[in-house]
Amino acid sequence: SAAEKGGYDYFMLKEIAEQPKAVADTLLGRIDPSGSLTLDEVRISPSELREVDKVVIVACGTAFHAGLIAKYAIEHWTRIPCEVELASEFRYRDPILDGRSLVIAISQSGETMDTLMALRHAREQGSKVLAICNTNGSTIPRESDAVLYTHAGPEVAVASTKAFLTQLVACYLVALYLGQVRGTKWGDEVHAVIKDLSRISDEVERVLETMEPVRALARTLAAKNTVLFLGRHVGYPVALEGALKLKELAYMHAEGFAAGELKHGPIALIEEDLPVVVVVPSPRGRSLLHDKIVSNIQEIRARGARTIVIAEEGDETVVPYADHLIRIPATPTLLQPLVATVPLQVFACELATARGNEVDQPRNLAKSVTVE
Ligand code: AGP
Repeated sequence: SAAEKGGYDYFMLKEIAEQPKAVADTLLGRIDPSGSLTLDEVRISPSELREVDKVVIVACGTAFHAGLIAKYAIEHWTRIPCEVELASEFRYRDPILDGRSLVIAISQSGETMDTLMALRHAREQGSKVLAICNTNGSTIPRESDAVLYTHAGPEVAVASTKAFLTQLVACYLVALYLGQVRGTKWGDEVHAVIKDLSRISDEVERVLETMEPVRALARTLAAKNTVLFLGRHVGYPVALEGALKLKELAYMHAEGFAAGELKHGPIALIEEDLPVVVVVPSPRGRSLLHDKIVSNIQEIRARGARTIVIAEEGDETVVPYADHLIRIPATPTLLQPLVATVPLQVFACELATARGNEVDQPRNLAKSVTVE
């Protein structure tokens, strides 16, 4: 009913709007006043966590994209090798696991059969399993050794939005906590990131306030057949997520690529007026990466692409090559997906509406996939 949707036309719009609160709620009570993390609820002891020599993340769909981003954070802050694998592939290839592997299963519903079978397999090999889950008492946390709940509140729309942002927050917390427990050499950086995380919900709110031009742009693309998404570093999984949202909602051909791969094949797809969304990393810090993506934008534009550039406020280098520019607040590189994903959700939702599709219940899909 309209009341359930809180005045919005679709649950998806309501859930997109709820993201600042979902992010803040997922942090609530987990950062103490001194800026350290308190994750006592994660019932895997610090001594066990110090023994971990490999992290393996298993998940499906959007939750898998959260896992891909988590890998960057975990390896950077903890120096523990981290693999991310589609849960549906995991147990069929005899993965190398033992008692020192920490397996993280990410799932909004907690009922995804592929993810459940993957975690069962991991536990059979003697690995500890930590669930990151949004649904209290669901099967995946019940069958795991420990759980860190995301506090997104119920997500009704089939397309995952607020659950994704809170999965990212939970992954950052786990990465920072592992670093804290094991004594990371990035001590100062970790403290700064914890501070930035506690401000990020306001940044998400600011992004939401500037989405009207994104909606207007989406409506102009309703008759297109294909949209490509490019990113590098954590912007690459963001590109994959943008493409997945567009597939499931707008039923358009959408693909995400690592921008560095363009010249190895995908650039052949570029043709006159093809919309290409590019997620640009911060020009601060890893600026080499920034320069490279600016060249990528030039390359595709020279071949006729219509460039839709998502870039940090104050990044002026992209302006000459952007047919459409979407601004996001400056954030530390690893946290950028929390703000960069939001315009892609809005973009897909608006395109779906413009094409006359049912936003909350896309064809052929179910909210939770309880068969393998
Ligand atoms: C996302 O928009 C999808 N509908 C889907 O990919 C989903 O993320 C996937 O099925 C995993 O679901 P889960 O988080 O409930 O395990």
